[in-house]
Amino acid sequence: MAYTHEYFQTSADYLRTRVSLTPEVGIVLGSCLGPFAQAIQDPVEVDYADIPHFLLSTVSSHAGKLLFGTVAGKRVACMSGRFHSYEGYSFEELVIPIRVLKLLGVQSVILTNAAGGINTSYRPGDVMILRDHIKLNGDSPLRGPNVEGFGPRFFDVSRMYTPELRKRALDCAKGSSLRVHEGTYMFFPGPQFETPAEIRAARMLGADAVGMSTVTEALTAAHCGLPLLALSVITNMAAGVLDQPLSAGEVDETAEGIAGAFSDYMKAIVAAI
Ligand code: HPA
Repeated sequence: MAYTHEYFQTSADYLRTRVSLTPEVGIVLGSCLGPFAQAIQDPVEVDYADIPHFLLSTVSSHAGKLLFGTVAGKRVACMSGRFHSYEGYSFEELVIPIRVLKLLGVQSVILTNAAGGINTSYRPGDVMILRDHIKLNGDSPLRGPNVEGFGPRFFDVSRMYTPELRKRALDCAKGSSLRVHEGTYMFFPGPQFETPAEIRAARMLGADAVGMSTVTEALTAAHCGLPLLALSVITNMAAGVLDQPLSAGEVDETAEGIAGAFSDYMKAIVAAI
């Protein structure tokens, strides 16, 4: 599929017929981080299934709704449920949500995810602000004909996790009960969790946490010049760090356990950016 600017514009135009609010901040909620959506005031909900050219969430812990409203006085558009390559979507398709948010007018993006901790000083329930990422698996979401209206063919990603937003998120951590770190996220395509050998390799490469999402959206945001903050909730220690098998249940349980504190932290960040 060769995407054009009009392709994404169709989705944005439809959303404007449903919602009058122009969002300032675009938010993507990761696995089981949906409870933050309850912090949105006067929400207007749009099902992904109703949006032309949008994708559908196939994972049960992802609600599949775009929510518009305000958080801490800021106008937000919040994706409750995201799309992953393991669901069968091509990397190129994964540009869709962020481009639609850009066309709706957002001026910054906050991405969240559940991740496995590689850094042994991390504990389940901690949060990691992404300073950088490693993506050695899979295509770039920007592969294929470049849509110049969004950004140039070749683009710099050396400061894509916006330093000023990272600093504000670190400052907000001072008022939070959460332990907050800054570190490097490594993308693996899943849906299988990684092997212990892959995690040892990732650690040698400098990764602090591992997950199956976020980088496609982050690269799309960087391409269209959107300031970006990304946060991982460490839901489990990565494969082989502890002498126990990994399970989706553990991921869900940890995410549910810190949902309240994470929601408060997110509210403070939205207020601060
Ligand atoms: N690996 C990949 N993705 C994840 C993990 C993990 O350990 N935990 C939550 N998402």
